[in-house]
Amino acid sequence: MIDNDTNKPKMRGNRRVICHVSDISEAGKGLSLNNIIKDEPDRKLDLFLVTNGNDVHGYFNICPHQGVPLDLKPDTFLDVERNFIQCSTHSAKFQKHDGLCVSGPCTGSKLMKLPITVDSDGAVLLGS
Ligand code: FES
Repeated sequence: MIDNDTNKPKMRGNRRVICHVSDISEAGKGLSLNNIIKDEPDRKLDLFLVTNGNDVHGYFNICPHQGVPLDLKPDTFLDVERNFIQCSTHSAKFQKHDGLCVSGPCTGSKLMKLPITVDSDGAVLLGS
């Protein structure tokens, strides 16, 4: 989310507001954000969010198997039962809460987790 007055990312303290929890569909939400790397502010990085009960978890959108995005269809990061994060390329399955791959060609590998919290008003914040 961008502050319309300053054209910079909206911040709450040291954390960046990246969306509202209601923006996350039941299969997840993908985001492409710049201003993530301090020395490369224009570089966009792809990440995604999934819900797990009342919790929200975020990861870089990079499969540890071949380094490709997990979603072939936008905002579709979960399996049909909505129990696991699933890579669309070779169907690796990852636990939602820690990104550990529990089946598929990269079993035992992990997605790169992001520090995500949800504020009392439902704002999803990136940063620790
Ligand atoms: S690229 Fe994700 S499982 Fe192969």
